[in-house]
Amino acid sequence: MEILPFILFFTCSLALTQASQLFCLQDESVSRVPLHKPLVISTWPFVEAVEMAKAAVEGGASALDAVVDGCTTCENLRCDGSVGYGGSPDENGETTLDAMVMDGTTMNVGAVGALRFVKEAIRAAKLVLEYTEHTLLVGDQASAFAVSLGLPGPVNLSTTDSMQKWSTWRKHRCQPNFWENVLPDCHTSCGPYRPCQDKSSPLELGDCSCDCWKRMLGGGMSTMKGIGRRSHDTISMAVIDKDGRIAVGTSTNGATFKIPGRVGDGPIVGAAAYADDDVGACGATGDGDIMMRFLPCYQVVESMRLGLEPQLAANDAISRIRRKYPSFIGALFAINKDGVHAGAAHGWTFQYSFWSSGMAKVKIFTVFPEVF
Ligand SMILES: *[C@@H]1O[C@H](CO)[C@@H](O)[C@H](O)[C@H]1NC(C)=O
Repeated sequence: MEILPFILFFTCSLALTQASQLFCLQDESVSRVPLHKPLVISTWPFVEAVEMAKAAVEGGASALDAVVDGCTTCENLRCDGSVGYGGSPDENGETTLDAMVMDGTTMNVGAVGALRFVKEAIRAAKLVLEYTEHTLLVGDQASAFAVSLGLPGPVNLSTTDSMQKWSTWRKHRCQPNFWENVLPDCHTSCGPYRPCQDKSSPLELGDCSCDCWKRMLGGGMSTMKGIGRRSHDTISMAVIDKDGRIAVGTSTNGATFKIPGRVGDGPIVGAAAYADDDVGACGATGDGDIMMRFLPCYQVVESMRLGLEPQLAANDAISRIRRKYPSFIGALFAINKDGVHAGAAHGWTFQYSFWSSGMAKVKIFTVFPEVF
């Protein structure tokens, strides 16, 4: 323990000499917050999920088992409509699920993407972790795998609500959607689409005079097309157990009206979550298609490994995305192995839930989108 401040000082000095001013702005009052293990932290006010993980980990469960129990609770409750069955229908009206679980002790990971006909996505992810040498299974074959190992299925993941939402979307000419640079105009028509091929042809320009076209000319700016918060939520949870083992898990039904086959950031290691016992953990939520290009949670954990406080690591990961996509919407929490936690957000106000041993209740922290 004695050597830790020295190491921090050393790595910080090194970073400073490399002219990286972001490093080392350590707030001593924050970094000395004592860790009360076990603890649970999760995106959004998913209090029931945190309480379930809390009960599991207090009862002696490993961080890994507790995180699976917590996320399963959200799948059953269909938290915000964006986790579990019956939410976020794709263009065919079908709900598919993405989930991941990561053991920060061994760095073992199990994940499923575009999972069909099975409700318990994070349990399916845990089966990949436990019973295979693989990391990620997708689609029908992930479903067959999960059912073969005992999860209930095949079951219909649609509900009257999700089918209703989908038929309303069809009636409104499939708006919004995730297409660009296609004909017919994706902002006024449903598919099937074909590529805008000859971009210099005046004839094609006439046909291609959609926003998608303008966006293409304008470069890589993202637009959210009016898709609100509820189409992009993910539960991303981290648990530190009594022995200091850290695990993270995610579960989501993805983006509403996604193109069938789309897999988001949820099951991508380092994107929506990452953990390493030696350092800490991170969980993210938001516009997964963009965020996964930056592995923001990997970035957060690696920045903390180099000595950055969780708040600075969180801010840095968000600003790396904002630099390229000024209108992206997303947020994350960072927690180090000492229990110091922070959040950063862009484009929306974010909340995360936190509980640690000794706290009577789960506490909700609000993170306003900041310019940093
Ligand atoms: C699944 O359930 C929805 C909602 O109840 C229903 O509209 C749909 O027809 C069902 N699909 C199948 C294949 O049974």
